[in-house]
Amino acid sequence: MIENKTRTSEDLIRLEGKHGAHNYHPLPVVLAKGDGVHVWDVEGKQYYDFLSAYSAVNQGHCHPAIVGAMTHQAQTLTLTSRAFYNDVLGPYEKFITEYFGFDKVLPMNTGAEAVETAIKICRKWAYEKKGIDENKAQIIVCDNNFHGRTTTIVSFSNDPVANKNFGPYTPGFIRIPYNDLNELERAMQGENIAGFLVEPIQGEAGVMVPDDGYLRKAKEICEKNNVLFIADEVQTGIARTGKMLAVDHEDVKPDVLILGKAISGGVYPVSAVLADDRVMEVIKPGQHGSTFGGNPVGAKVAIAALTVVKDEKLAENAQRLGEVFRDRMNKMIEKSDLVKLVRGKGLLNAIVINDDEESSTAWDICIKLRDNGLLAKPTHGNIIRFAPPLVMTEEQLHDCCDIIEKTILEFEK
Ligand SMILES: Cc1ncc(COP(=O)(O)O)c(C=O)c1O
Repeated sequence: MIENKTRTSEDLIRLEGKHGAHNYHPLPVVLAKGDGVHVWDVEGKQYYDFLSAYSAVNQGHCHPAIVGAMTHQAQTLTLTSRAFYNDVLGPYEKFITEYFGFDKVLPMNTGAEAVETAIKICRKWAYEKKGIDENKAQIIVCDNNFHGRTTTIVSFSNDPVANKNFGPYTPGFIRIPYNDLNELERAMQGENIAGFLVEPIQGEAGVMVPDDGYLRKAKEICEKNNVLFIADEVQTGIARTGKMLAVDHEDVKPDVLILGKAISGGVYPVSAVLADDRVMEVIKPGQHGSTFGGNPVGAKVAIAALTVVKDEKLAENAQRLGEVFRDRMNKMIEKSDLVKLVRGKGLLNAIVINDDEESSTAWDICIKLRDNGLLAKPTHGNIIRFAPPLVMTEEQLHDCCDIIEKTILEFEK
């Protein structure tokens, strides 16, 4: 029975600890409300959200246009499955394919599912179009990748936390260093190469931005070798880095584009894989799908969320505020021994703390940031990712930089 009493943060943390699997280690703050760039805990304290649910809430919390689209559709028709047609999916598919400039979309729900979908499409394309012998296709991936949590995806992770004791691992992946074109060229000389799966910026790895030109050259290498360039833009897409997609910084069109998170503004799980017909046509009825993928609520939510991104010029805002943010952080670094550097693009940034990876310094700073009214999360012992909602104003950003600066300087004493 669910008891109807007011619970404190402490009660709620205890409840999760007792009844939920311990697969996360959240910062100790219990949120009860969100609006725009702000969230509030159960005791009513207000914070700036500087994580945006890992870049899902780019449009700000509870954006009225997105929530409005969801509630309206939720009262009309929620789910038909793909056993039948519905009157929202077709218009959504037309909308999203025109929006990103691809022939076709395959709708799913979560980021990991979309990555799995892309892997399946790539393998099928390899056998049916490229002529690779069955069960021999290889996909090149990068060191320190993060593409989700399924058994296949963790199979090609090199993070022991993600994959230790989850074997046996799915074969068919070759891992090479990130941001290394020579290694990519070398890997292409191997047999049966079908695809190159890459994050345009490695978010979970600590916001690792590759050299200018890496993505463009990588795409050229893929083209030369008849290998699919598969961009995982689950975290970097939807205006986060200052362009609609991070690959847009280098005018690259992926052969397969993977989207998730902010495609719904963080309101509902929606993900998508986009490709042109020459690739997507390998998928035939019954070969892939999901009960909820492409459901009317998700479809309406995604149309609203993507419309907000353009109407409110969120890419332009992310680009401009990103420069302000890194400028402020660089000035702070001049006064600080604790922070080594800031890196990022648009409003996907990270600061690197002058300490080793195993230290708890980044965590301790995040606790102090929380106390000072700003929520962020370490990606490693010594890296803190900063990714606020893209609806932030310049004034609010300066306010946040003041909080970060004050916290870091306090910490140094
Ligand atoms: C680049 C990338 N791909 C895939 C995923 C997995 O998305 P999801 O957690 O929705 O499965 C993430 C999640 O952080 C991600 O950052």
